[in-house]
Amino acid sequence: MSFKNKIDTKRLPQHIAIIMDGNGRWAKGLGKLRVFGHQNGVTAVQQTTEACAELGVKYLTLYAFSTENWNRPQLEVRALMELLVSTIKKETATLQKNNIRLIAIGNMDDLPPKCQKELMEAIEATKNNDRMTLVLALSYSAKWDILKAVKKISEKVKNNLLDIEKISDKTVDENLSTAGIPHPELMIRTSGEQRISNFLLWELAYSELYFTEKLWPDFTKEELYKAIVDYQNRERRFGKTSEQLSS
Ligand code: IPE
Ligand code: IPE
Ligand code: MG
Repeated sequence: MSFKNKIDTKRLPQHIAIIMDGNGRWAKGLGKLRVFGHQNGVTAVQQTTEACAELGVKYLTLYAFSTENWNRPQLEVRALMELLVSTIKKETATLQKNNIRLIAIGNMDDLPPKCQKELMEAIEATKNNDRMTLVLALSYSAKWDILKAVKKISEKVKNNLLDIEKISDKTVDENLSTAGIPHPELMIRTSGEQRISNFLLWELAYSELYFTEKLWPDFTKEELYKAIVDYQNRERRFGKTSEQLSS
């Protein structure tokens, strides 16, 4: 039986965030170059996006390129940027057809101009779609985002637009690049690594973390369903006791 049938559609996570990891190892296993792994990761992106939209998940955030990934060999970085441009170009029509809005978080200024252009066009073209929002984390790191928020908040305080005593959780939320997006209830990382790698540090504060040995290019709809079922079998206590939750 498919894990899909075990999903309680009334208790779906609203937001799923994924660290798509393992492309390089997947390619290496086949005796190919790392880039081959990235190319094959695109299928998993399509499958996951489609599965989330079909289920009724409202937000899907995909960690596609981290601030730290700029330190990879130039050839790989360039190949990843080219893959990004060609994929966005190819997929915009599908996003439209499926009523999916695309947005991006991260330092877009660091992306090659061609990349920025394709991205902005796709974001603009899909801005009124409302079935699901696909958030691409590109040249993103949580520390970069938090620092940016701290500076924005400080600026407001300095200009007497904000009282220090009024700074709250909500103030931080509103000044991050994820403003307006509910925090992910579920974070998935593929490839067996069990770390956050500078992804959504603030937003993941109470997320359920799911780690799978599957390498990203092998991640399928069924793997996603499995992760959601696992999530639904957990008790989210938010500091309370189990007894409090059942009464
Ligand atoms: C994830 O796969 C893709 C990106 C980080 C861009 P990796 O390229 O990190 O693959 P591994 O971890 O080396 O196998
Ligand atoms: C994290 O993967 C970033 C993305 C998936 C885009 P990495 O493969 O770069 O992470 P580390 O450096 O091994 O933690
Ligand atoms: Mg990796």
